[in-house]
Amino acid sequence: MATSVLRMLPAAAIAVALMSVPLAARADQALIDYRKAVMESIGGHTSALVAIVKGNVPYKEDAAVHARAIEPLAKMAGHVFPANSKTGKTEALPAIWEQPEKFEKTLAAFQAAAADLAKVADGQPADLAPPVSALAKSCKACHDDFRKKD
Ligand code: HEC
Repeated sequence: MATSVLRMLPAAAIAVALMSVPLAARADQALIDYRKAVMESIGGHTSALVAIVKGNVPYKEDAAVHARAIEPLAKMAGHVFPANSKTGKTEALPAIWEQPEKFEKTLAAFQAAAADLAKVADGQPADLAPPVSALAKSCKACHDDFRKKD
């Protein structure tokens, strides 16, 4: 009996700690963390593909998987910036919500670059180089204007 009460204590303490964080704040951070996870996935596939295209690693046969994976993730990027994900531990700049038209354009250019890359996904690394470089430029364009500098 005494032991089972003790075992329950940490869980209860965690529940109380969670309750003391306002619900809205927690929701925002969950949305932000999800956005970061999607960006990390995009970043992972892009880095892997760049390594293959540059010939730094010999995994030519993996290129198509990475090249195709970025397109649906770029589509997801379209819904990971809701208005209630502005505040919290985030590097996203307020400009995203203050200049929605400019942001939408930047996002659309990225999605188009990801779609162009997916179309040639089965090509040789040399064929993938131009669309990968165009894609990388579209990442940079958005990060330059809409993400905090390190
Ligand atoms: C339309 C704008 C936009 C585009 C396009 C974009 N990003 Fe991002 N990215 C962001 C923003 C904003 C953040 C900061 C997110 C946050 O902290 O909430 C971010 C964060 C990241 C992160 C860090 C995630 C973390 O864990 O903090 C990585 C990695 C990343 N992006 C990679 C990429 C790559 C690679 C591409 C292109 C293939 C790309 N992004 C395209 C806006 C964009």
